Amino acid sequence: MAKGLVEAGAMVHCVDISPHADQAFERAKERVDPQYSGGFEYHRCDVSNDAEVSSVFREIAAKKQRLDGIIAAAGIQHVQSALDICTEDINRMLATNYTGVFLCARAAAREMFRYKIQGGSICLIASMSGIIANRGFIAPVYNSSKAAVIQLARNLAMEWGRVRADGSGGIRVNCLSPGHILTPMVEENLRKGEASRKEWENNSMLGRLSTPEEYKAAGLFLLSRASSFMTGQNLIIDGGTSAW
Ligand SMILES: NC(=O)c1ccc[n+]([C@@H]2O[C@H](COP(=O)([O-])OP(=O)(O)OC[C@H]3O[C@@H](n4cnc5c(N)ncnc54)[C@H](O)[C@@H]3O)[C@@H](O)[C@H]2O)c1
Repeated sequence: MAKGLVEAGAMVHCVDISPHADQAFERAKERVDPQYSGGFEYHRCDVSNDAEVSSVFREIAAKKQRLDGIIAAAGIQHVQSALDICTEDINRMLATNYTGVFLCARAAAREMFRYKIQGGSICLIASMSGIIANRGFIAPVYNSSKAAVIQLARNLAMEWGRVRADGSGGIRVNCLSPGHILTPMVEENLRKGEASRKEWENNSMLGRLSTPEEYKAAGLFLLSRASSFMTGQNLIIDGGTSAW
């Protein structure tokens, strides 16, 4: 999704908890075609830490005195039954998957209000797991954290949608809910035997998992004026898994 935005001319700031950008990020950065006016920058930040999130978003927005959009995508997975999971693991999951998304959306909105960016767009990454329990995959906290994100989008959309008297506001907030994507998170689930690839493929009407590239256009759609009348909604792209 970040690549799609850069190709459309955006300056994209990737924020992650790792101290340094990974190789995939560096490769993507090197490959940015000079014909595009956009580019990539990396920032380290723990999305569950309010002070860090506020400071990094303030710094990013100050560079060009604006912030037009955000995709809040940090998330973690934990496969354990509801009977066995301990309070620490429940809180750790929610701190990233719910509180982290909340803090990033709020920090982005504060910068949009500060610089009076009308038409700012916020995309929260939820999951099809926020609307269904994945058959046989035991992740009660992950799934309910994603349901909370979908409900959060509706409430933030309601709070920030109107243009205010001072010219600020007009911010749209939507969710993107993917199905199974072959990312390091899912590769880890498959490697540990927590999920069966065959079963996940069978659960999709298309009979396969998806790749990150298949969400590129959706990210561009949600962050651009192409979706200018869409807010408070949940765009589900899951190969039909939740449709039967
Ligand atoms: N892979 C899938 O099948 C799938 C399906 C639906 C939704 N999602 C969602 O998509 C998003 C991306 O998932 P992914 O599959 O690319 O997983 P991933 O593990 O490959 O990437 C998640 C990223 O979040 C970062 N992160 C974790 N905790 C953080 C924190 N506290 N602060 C900042 N960064 C943090 C990690 O370092 C990692 O780079 C997640 O929200 C996930 O729940 C994934």
